[in-house]
Amino acid sequence: MKLNILVLPGDGIGPEVTREAVRVLEHVAAKWNHALHMEEGLLGGIAIHKTGGPFPDRTRELALATDATLLGAVGLPEFDHLPPEKRPEKGLLGIRKALDVFANLRPIVAYEALLASSPLKDEIVRGTDMLIVRELTAGLYFGTPRGISGESGERVAVNSMVYRESEIKRVARMAFELARKRRKKLTSADKANVLENSQLWREVVTQAGKDYPDVEVDHILVDNCAMQLVLNPTRFDVVVTENLFGDILSDEGAVLAGSIGMLQSASIGDQQPNGVWRGLYEPVHGSAPDIAGQNKANPFAAIGSAAAMLNYSFGLKEEGAAIDAAIQTVLKHGPVTADIKRQGTAGTTEEVGKAVCAAIG
Ligand code: IPM
Ligand code: MN
Repeated sequence: MKLNILVLPGDGIGPEVTREAVRVLEHVAAKWNHALHMEEGLLGGIAIHKTGGPFPDRTRELALATDATLLGAVGLPEFDHLPPEKRPEKGLLGIRKALDVFANLRPIVAYEALLASSPLKDEIVRGTDMLIVRELTAGLYFGTPRGISGESGERVAVNSMVYRESEIKRVARMAFELARKRRKKLTSADKANVLENSQLWREVVTQAGKDYPDVEVDHILVDNCAMQLVLNPTRFDVVVTENLFGDILSDEGAVLAGSIGMLQSASIGDQQPNGVWRGLYEPVHGSAPDIAGQNKANPFAAIGSAAAMLNYSFGLKEEGAAIDAAIQTVLKHGPVTADIKRQGTAGTTEEVGKAVCAAIG
């Protein structure tokens, strides 16, 4: 099979973790005889430096022309003082929107080998296996009006949480489909006791559920969801929620997985007319500039995202599963990076990537 992939290493630890994901993809392509065609592009702070903007036209063209995009991370402290419009993160939002990848799949699995890395008690975390489906192209991140205006000396800031029925419906259906392939339980998290936005969300999810009688649905308020996530995580199978709620809940979920360095993500939309399932694959973690360039960032999230790419965009289930199995082997026997290392010397980013390749065989 021909695999066309755009690689956007981005900022901070992005390049080093992406390098290991690419190493694993090359290894898999060689082993299973796939023709890997990779291009590299600019996104985020590095794109601002080289082109003046966080999401250059060239990157947009490449992303729209390719089947799948592998992304590292974006964000640099030097841009922290700038308004959202001018920041590296704007590039990330831009590419998500341009690709129309409205469903961001963030699996949270508590591997046995990492139970001790979570500050939560083993008996709470053990068995956690959930999938957060975060709506990714609407809500507060994109709604208008937005901005800061000055009114008689006092400034006012406005952001708008906007959801159209169709935007809720498509991500809800995606979540139902995914739940159907898992334990058939869907939890929708909203704030329907306060927000009209969430009232519509709840209605549309309920309505969508009529087509999925085999999936059990429950609605939970997002504040309670945040609490249940650490009190009783095994109660969750698939969780569907709007953009900002999903952003927050998934970082909280990282505590269950032992480290945010473990969380992969796949952003997908509808199938293209040519049959391709275009996707954007990125770790949930950020650019971690404090440890960038030191060869100590955890590459598992990036490598796991590459596995998700093979799975979702290319339908290569066997290859994706082989990477996932290799990750588990390396988690058990090492080397692993400092964020999840309990005792002894931590491995480097590169050593972990090479160990995953070796474990694939
Ligand atoms: C994430 C990140 C991004 C988001 C930032 C970097 C814009 O936190 O992917 O979770 O908020 O979506
Ligand atoms: Mn986030």
